[in-house]
Amino acid sequence: MPGAEAGAENFPLIQRITRTAERARFDFVFFADALNAAPGMHPSVLVRLEPLTLLAALAASTTHIGLAATCNTTYTEPYNLARLFGSLDHISGGRAAWNVVTGAFAEASQNFGTRPHPPHEERYAIAAEFVRVVRGLWDSWEDGAITMDRATGQFADASRLHVLNHRGAHFEVKGPLNLSRPPQGHPVLIQAGASDTGRDLAASIAEVVFAVQQDVESARAFAEDIKARAARMGRDPAHVKVMPGVSPILGGSVAEARAKLDQLGEFLDPVAALTVLSERLGQDLSGYDLDGPVPELPESTIMRGHAAVLTALARREGLTLRQLRNVAAGAMGHRLLLGTPEQVADDLEAWFRAGAADGFNIMPPWFPGAFDDFANEVVPILQKRGLFREDYSGTMLRDHLGLPRPTHPTAL
Ligand SMILES: Cc1cc2nc3c(=O)[nH]c(=O)nc-3n(C[C@H](O)[C@H](O)[C@H](O)COP(=O)(O)O)c2cc1C
Repeated sequence: MPGAEAGAENFPLIQRITRTAERARFDFVFFADALNAAPGMHPSVLVRLEPLTLLAALAASTTHIGLAATCNTTYTEPYNLARLFGSLDHISGGRAAWNVVTGAFAEASQNFGTRPHPPHEERYAIAAEFVRVVRGLWDSWEDGAITMDRATGQFADASRLHVLNHRGAHFEVKGPLNLSRPPQGHPVLIQAGASDTGRDLAASIAEVVFAVQQDVESARAFAEDIKARAARMGRDPAHVKVMPGVSPILGGSVAEARAKLDQLGEFLDPVAALTVLSERLGQDLSGYDLDGPVPELPESTIMRGHAAVLTALARREGLTLRQLRNVAAGAMGHRLLLGTPEQVADDLEAWFRAGAADGFNIMPPWFPGAFDDFANEVVPILQKRGLFREDYSGTMLRDHLGLPRPTHPTAL
């Protein structure tokens, strides 16, 4: 795309985009992650920086914006992860968030010894225990237990140290963590479950829930379902923020925005684009006629949410496989939003007012242009309407999101 810059390893570019997001007063920037690569994968995911290393560098380049990344619970240890995100929270002054994923891609298992990729339900059971251990480790020290008192010479108050001694079905972790309690108590937890088990995990632990939704009614049903599950688990549903993804393309009119999408479609690498769709539908589509209808496929066991939403979109709008491929590659399966800045703001406002979204994950199809357009042209409209902050009111991500700081268990 004219003006587009690549890519996932370009730190100066990522730094510029993050600063733009901070100037526009975004809650946070988020980096997805996976633990595998193969020739033929979409260029945006073929190579990528390790996200915690990246976020630590971004912490030093920014002052307020939240810093979120994916980390997989199937291929690391709770102790390592608690240190990584706990350290990021300290370095950034309370801006860290962890997107808990169980790992959608089985290929990752080949990089971690001989154990096969666990099946979906087992991955979620591992994830639930993993999160319990991580939280327990973050609570190793009570707030203020590292006293560093010059007068008494006391560095740490050992009476306020708690040894976890966790023994569960999947993990044995003694603790304590060699890190004091993070500034936010716990970094913010994000989850993107779509299946029944995934939604239960989101409802039990997530403070931000990412979603793939194409229409306002099903998005509202999804948000209500997640919040009802959270309430049944004894949580305050107001502390679960549902954020569907949208992929905005701005123009002087809808037709002008659509022309940009068509122009983008001309640049797609057809093989890589079809690979994205194949991954999202959980089926190799290379043998099908691109100009035929989207075939009936067995239910995906990989990215069920994306698969269901994309299939429904294709049926509803009568898309050919080629058209669905272009949508999937351009917006990675999320909702394309084409129009003038006013129209895009109207749409976001309508979803927000309908209870379909507490916020949005803005995923422009190219950088930095499509994102700059959103930050410069849509955000001021939302601010003028009183729908979005003009400035940060706090310094921590929990402040931006209106989330309480988890109390240490001993103080409950
Ligand atoms: C916005 C968004 C971001 C996601 N990021 C990742 C990611 O970085 N890594 C990953 O393995 N899966 C990622 N996923 C996939 C989810 O973790 C999950 O596997 C998927 O939504 C399917 O749900 P299910 O596991 O309940 O079937 C993401 C999903 C969404 C909607």
